[in-house]
Amino acid sequence: MAGRRVTAWTYNGGLPGPLIRVRAGDRLIVRFSNALPQPSTVHWHGVRVPIEMDGVPDASQPDVPPGGSFTYDFVVPDAGLFWYHPHVMSAAQVGFGLYGALLADDPADPVGIEDDVVLVLSDIALMEDGSLEQPDSGGTTAMAFGREGTHVLVNGRTRPTLRARSGAPQRWRIVNAAKSRYFTLDLRGATFTLIGGDGGLQEAPVEHQFLLLTPGERADAIVTTSAAPGTQLTLQSLLHNRGFGSVEFRTVEQLLTLEIADLPPVSLPPPQVGRSIAPLSTAGATGVSIELTLGQRSNGTFEYGINGVPFAKARPILARLGETQIWEVKNSTKWSHPLHLHGFFFQVLDEQGAPVRPLAWKDTVNVPLEGSARFVVRFDERPGAWMYHCHILDHADGGLMGTVLVGPSTPEHVHTEPGS
Ligand code: C2O
Ligand code: CU
Repeated sequence: MAGRRVTAWTYNGGLPGPLIRVRAGDRLIVRFSNALPQPSTVHWHGVRVPIEMDGVPDASQPDVPPGGSFTYDFVVPDAGLFWYHPHVMSAAQVGFGLYGALLADDPADPVGIEDDVVLVLSDIALMEDGSLEQPDSGGTTAMAFGREGTHVLVNGRTRPTLRARSGAPQRWRIVNAAKSRYFTLDLRGATFTLIGGDGGLQEAPVEHQFLLLTPGERADAIVTTSAAPGTQLTLQSLLHNRGFGSVEFRTVEQLLTLEIADLPPVSLPPPQVGRSIAPLSTAGATGVSIELTLGQRSNGTFEYGINGVPFAKARPILARLGETQIWEVKNSTKWSHPLHLHGFFFQVLDEQGAPVRPLAWKDTVNVPLEGSARFVVRFDERPGAWMYHCHILDHADGGLMGTVLVGPSTPEHVHTEPGS
C-alpha cells in the first residue's frame, strides 16, 4: 500500500486518536461531535465511569447521530492505560480507525522510568486500491473467525522505529486496539518484565519471553536490552492459535524496529515494582456460569451467543449492589474469545478457584477455544446495565454479548441466567 492515500475514520484526524493523558483522580471532559455518516458513541474501556458515561446506546445514552454531539464528563479514578472506541457498529467503526489511548498517571508512581512509551497496536483492512474493506466481507463465516486487518499498525504506522539505550530500562504501555487480532510480542534479544496490565500495576513483576495481548487487553512492561550500541532489534508478533485459520493463514508480523543508540551502554537495574492488592473475598459469592456458543440460524448463517442465546434475545445477569460473583466461563466454540466486562475490574481465578498470582486487576480475559476461564468480581458501586462481550468485535456484533444489571439490593431479587 506504499504511496497510496487511504481514507480512514478517525478522532481529530489522527490514527490512532489523540493520546489523552491525565492524572488518576482528574476530571476529564471530552466534547464529542460526530461527523461520521453513522451514529456513534465513545466508550472508555476500563475506566470505572458512571453508567451515563459508558458510551453504550440505551444503557448509557442515546447514540449520537451524524451531526450530533455529546459531552463526556467523569473522573478517572484509577491509574493505568485505558483506551476509547465507539460502541455502535464497533467492528466496522473500530476497524475503520476509531480508537485511541487514555493514560492515567499515578501521582505517586513508584516506577520512576522517564523513558515511557505508549504503543497502540492495531490493524486495518485495505483493498488493493487502498479503500477500506467492507466490514461484512466474507459474510458470517468471516464473522465467526473474526476479520483481521491486512496491515498491522503500531501507533498508526507500519513498522516504526523506536530508540533505546543499551542497558537502560524503558517502560512500554501497550494496548491491543485491533478488532480481532491477537498479538504475541517477541523482542528477539530482550525479555519483557511485566509490571501491570488492564487495571494498573500488578502485585509483583514477572519476566516473560513472549507477551500475549488479546483485543482490548493492556500490558505495562519494562524492556531492557543489552544489545550493542548502533544495532537494531525487531519486535515481532508470533502466531497464536485462536482458532481455525489463525495459524494456517497468518504470518509472523514485524511490528517495530528498536534502534539501539550509539552511546556507551549503561547498567541501570530495572526497578522492583510492586503493589499490594488484596484478593477479593469469595465468601458468600454467587456463582454465575455462562457458556460461549456458536450456532446457526435456519438460513445457515452463523450466530454467536451466551448459553445459546444471541445478545438481541438475551436476558441480563442480575447482581445486587455490593454482591460478589464468581463467573465460570465455558467456551464451547472452536475460537478463543477475549471476554471484556464494562465498569468493574475482576481478579482471574485458577481452576481450583484460587486467585492467579501475582494478583492483578483485569477487565478483559482470554477464554481459550474449547477451554474456560473464571474470575471474581464485586459489583460494589455504580448501579446500571453493564455490558460484557467478546472483544473480537465481529463476535460481539455477531451475538457474543450480554448485560449485567447491577441493581439495588432487594430481598425479592432473583438470579436469572441469560436466556432462561
Ligand atoms: Cu472495549 Cu464494550 O468495549
Ligand atoms: Cu470472540
